[in-house]
Amino acid sequence: MAFVTQEQISQYHKDGFLALEGFFTSEECDAMRNQIQKIIAGMDVPPHCRTEFSTKHEEQLQDQGSAEYFLTSGDKIRFFFEKGVFDDKALHAYDVVFKQMTHAPKVQALARKLGIENPVVVQSMYIFKQPHIGGEVTPHQDATFLHTEPLGRVVGIWIALEDATEENGCLWFLPGSHTSGITRRMARTTPGTIPCTQFIGSEREYDSSRFIPVPIGKGGLILIHGEVVHKSEANCSETSRHVYTFHLMEAKDTIWSEDNW
Ligand code: FE2
Repeated sequence: MAFVTQEQISQYHKDGFLALEGFFTSEECDAMRNQIQKIIAGMDVPPHCRTEFSTKHEEQLQDQGSAEYFLTSGDKIRFFFEKGVFDDKALHAYDVVFKQMTHAPKVQALARKLGIENPVVVQSMYIFKQPHIGGEVTPHQDATFLHTEPLGRVVGIWIALEDATEENGCLWFLPGSHTSGITRRMARTTPGTIPCTQFIGSEREYDSSRFIPVPIGKGGLILIHGEVVHKSEANCSETSRHVYTFHLMEAKDTIWSEDNW
């Protein structure tokens, strides 16, 4: 691993994101890809579990079965279909391979470099972004979904298990957009009501010409500040773009908002 320099950490604070090529080895990436295939092979996913995770307002969950599946997903391995593919949650806690990668000494060293004193993993997900199927993810800030008081305590760790290119749906960022707070939150509604979550506030309008693409090779890691605006385009290419991602929260002097999903 090319270890992160102080200059790179400064760049992260300036831009709200940082790409680190070659953070994981090709073998480590293959171990994660093989493990997800095993998990899928051993899983029978009933129809009510075919829940899509969407960043869009109008696509929030509308039926009780899906709603419960979504709300109780934080500490279980669960699958979310995204326009024909599915994602997986809480891998960091319940699967031996993903747990090992999430808690790898180099990840812990990276968290320390970021100044996180008491890191807690609050969410994890495997994203398949399959050829011709993987949909776009509209511009958003992760703190909309993972809210804390104060803000600025959550960082996304996004690991490319295959090359992420402009053609297959790499991340795009609005550099420096992490410094002006958030205008939209997704919060739980009163228990028993449908939909089970609602958006409070609305997303700002962003100038699409100001986003910059951040392609990265297999094994690369991208740090995503909780308030930086980012998106990805649909995968219209012939190749998949598998990613393992999780979020770290600085638990010291931080309140995890109770109405997060
Ligand atoms: Fe995100």
